[in-house]
Amino acid sequence: MTSQAKKRVLSGITATGSLHIGNYIGAISQWVDNQAEYENFLFVADLHALTIPEAIVGKNLRARVEEIFALYLACGIDPERSTLFVQSDVVEHAELGWLMTCVTPVSWLERMTQFKTKGKVADVDSGVGAGLLCYPSLQAADILLYDPDLVPVGEDQKQHVEITRDIAKRFNAMFGETFKVPDVVIRQSGGRIMGLDDPTAKMSKSTAERSPGHAIGLLDPLDKSRKAIMRAVTDSNSGVDFSNELAPGVTNLLTIFECFTATTREQSREQFDGAGYGTLKSAVADVVTDKLAEIQSRFHDIADDRDTLNKQLARGAERARAIASTKLAQAYRATGLRQ
Ligand code: TYM
Repeated sequence: MTSQAKKRVLSGITATGSLHIGNYIGAISQWVDNQAEYENFLFVADLHALTIPEAIVGKNLRARVEEIFALYLACGIDPERSTLFVQSDVVEHAELGWLMTCVTPVSWLERMTQFKTKGKVADVDSGVGAGLLCYPSLQAADILLYDPDLVPVGEDQKQHVEITRDIAKRFNAMFGETFKVPDVVIRQSGGRIMGLDDPTAKMSKSTAERSPGHAIGLLDPLDKSRKAIMRAVTDSNSGVDFSNELAPGVTNLLTIFECFTATTREQSREQFDGAGYGTLKSAVADVVTDKLAEIQSRFHDIADDRDTLNKQLARGAERARAIASTKLAQAYRATGLRQ
């Protein structure tokens, strides 16, 4: 297959905290699995991190951004096959972001779940930045700059891809056909990994910073990760009983196990029906810590080699800019800002 015939993929992660196994399962593992088949554009969303000041103030944001970049590589993204870059290294994101902000109705932005939860009225009154409201129009620019066919994300990002589709259609209707309208791709299972301490809440970077037993960080010490899994909330039963409805915490553990071992629910039923929760948890801890050990060992080699990392950052930005600048020029012409 020539690279032109390959479908194009675009996706990214915001640099607001340490990556966890939810990010790995919902997003990164899809990118790794797809890279032979698709042409990947993958980035670290550092401009988006600025919308949540408490996540970045006093922290060395660039160091965190480069840590995530190195983690992409350590998880198995191949920089020869995928274009890997940092959002703010490609200025076209901010520029197209402004055009997108101008065509996006405020009412669409105010309806977004993320704005309603993170930008609660009290926070708005206390001076939350307008970037939080305009977050989705910057995300639309991230995506539309590359004319991707597919945007593989976890379930929580579905609404952001849907609004991107709406923004693309609106721009095309106002200024003429300019942007491809991409499809969202979500894993059938593993699109929403839940917190280990509270299986009714999505595993999230921000909660992980407050509650130690909530998530498994990709760079967490292995013994800490094993302990968090062994303490994961299940229910008052003693073991896995597939003849009854499984508790959310048990389903979550099974999903994590299946995603790390590429097995089906049917196979885990055979393996775990009737097993004690301790047995299930220890099997999950084994597969998760094995994977983390592999990622962490590669991560340390990659992060220690500054020269190569810097070259990869520069090369990725250059490759991304080659595509993004052409698309931005097209959008400028469509709006009449350029001849
Ligand atoms: P972010 O950084 O919150 O999450 C990165 C990716 O991880 C997925 N994810 C999960 N998947 C399964 N279970 C979970 N508990 C879980 N938590 C997170 C997310 O769905 C996402 O795929 N706005 C985006 C970043 C972004 C972006 C983009 C993504 C900016 N521009 C353009 C795609 C395309 C975000 O904050 O994701």
